[in-house]
Amino acid sequence: SKLEIFVDELPDMPKIYGYDVVDGVPKSKSLKIGMFKKKWKFHRDLPPTTVYAYGLSKRKATVPGPTIEALHRIDTHVTWQNQLPPNHILPWDPTIPTALTKTTHGIPTVVHLHGGIHHSESDGNANSWFTSRYKIKGPTWTNKTYLYSNNQHPGNLWYHDHAMGLTRVNLLAGLIGSYIIRHPKIESPLGLPHGDEYDRPLVLFDRSFKTDGSIYMNSTGNNPSIHPQWQPEYFGDAIIVNGKAWPSLTVRRRKYRFRIINASNARFFRLFFTNGLRLVHVGSDSAYIRKPAASNKTLVGPSEITDFIVDFSKSESNVAILANDAPYPYPSGDPVDELTGKVMKFTILPDKELDTSRIPKKLVEYPVADLSSVSQTRYIAMYEYTSNIDEPTHLYLNGKPYDAPVTETPKAGSTEVWYVINLTDDNHPLHIHLGLFKVLDQTELVKSDEFKDCMTKINDAVKCHVDEHARGKKVAVPNYEKGWKNVFKMRPGFVTKIVVRFGYIHTNTSYEFDATAGPGYAYHCHTPTRPTHKAGKGISRRIESV
Ligand code: C2O
Repeated sequence: SKLEIFVDELPDMPKIYGYDVVDGVPKSKSLKIGMFKKKWKFHRDLPPTTVYAYGLSKRKATVPGPTIEALHRIDTHVTWQNQLPPNHILPWDPTIPTALTKTTHGIPTVVHLHGGIHHSESDGNANSWFTSRYKIKGPTWTNKTYLYSNNQHPGNLWYHDHAMGLTRVNLLAGLIGSYIIRHPKIESPLGLPHGDEYDRPLVLFDRSFKTDGSIYMNSTGNNPSIHPQWQPEYFGDAIIVNGKAWPSLTVRRRKYRFRIINASNARFFRLFFTNGLRLVHVGSDSAYIRKPAASNKTLVGPSEITDFIVDFSKSESNVAILANDAPYPYPSGDPVDELTGKVMKFTILPDKELDTSRIPKKLVEYPVADLSSVSQTRYIAMYEYTSNIDEPTHLYLNGKPYDAPVTETPKAGSTEVWYVINLTDDNHPLHIHLGLFKVLDQTELVKSDEFKDCMTKINDAVKCHVDEHARGKKVAVPNYEKGWKNVFKMRPGFVTKIVVRFGYIHTNTSYEFDATAGPGYAYHCHTPTRPTHKAGKGISRRIESV
């Protein structure tokens, strides 16, 4: 039997403040946030689901976890505590590179603050995992307490598990949450909708459930003789927002701000309102864009964040459905159905409200990406390499697995141009830790045999001449994604040119910490790819010291 949609109310996740205010002055704060195994109600008619949840205590733990509110330049220390009992609640495959081949001694976890610009010891390296009470620790584990200095620009981040080989199942189990860095001096004058009622994070993901309420994940590998359980992508048939399946929210006739995080493993959302309400974007991933950008739809890949204002006073109807029409896998998979095509329902109160919030002409101006100061140009190819044993092809970056020695060693404060060449059939959301980038353009590759041939042979940097082959049509970057991003959707068959800055984007200082110390940083695709058997969230390469 199918679940009835729009029967549960949209929850707000609990807020945890990453600072204290003493005599009106904000002060740094230390938090202890645990990971707990508990039951969670995803829908009125579904029995409680066993999940892994973040929270200050088991009782307070939620899926998604609490929203952490941080303040620009105020340190937040978090001791992430693994309280998970042994034996994973979901099937995962020990034959891929993974933290532990058995979870009978505890579940390896490590937290990455996605979009955070911090010491690599606090970045949640995939090999810095630890089990309950730190009984077993990964090879790059260094410290129990992470320091988030929050010295970066204001915006939206999210925290999620990043353990080697277990990331996809730890996220599916519930280890995700949002994190906001506020900067009142920059943000208050903007006059955007604010306060808990009018400024809300919405964490979206898809899940499938069995009738007993447990999370359904196919446990048969697509090549069982080699990898008994490995399933590269996960698509669920229920759409969850803030921990409820297809919730609904009653809103006033005024402006609201929604910070939308796509926390799905593989599902893209192309969001729109069924009654034609416009989305006025103000931010993309962790940063504000220069000026508001209106559109009817917004495409959010796995791990991307979009931040927009909706003005419900412009609605002619009293109901607005937030809907999704992105095929899965994106872009050439199946169309959505009646249910996966719906996200949540808004019931709009009839009376017009006094609304003092506004959408300013300009938001936040960051320095332009200075192409004249580019110190390095890199070519990064996503290509499905076939190994000599008969197993699924591997999707590697430049033919290298995560464990290979580091090849990208940018300098602190430097600007680089990267050409990312996607020769696979799927769109891949590329995520870069530590750096921020602007997408300059996407150009279709004229896939001459010569080019393909050279791709298959190359094992190191791609030396094929992109210029000679990137001669097809150009696709413009939508206005709402022209700012500084940390994830972007790499179109299949295209080369995407990005300019990456390794340094803060709002000041000229590079970092206030030594970015060359510690285990380094990663860049990777945020979807466990198809067909690959690479660890965690799919392809991974490290950026070492900057
Ligand atoms: Cu959202 Cu390397 O992570």
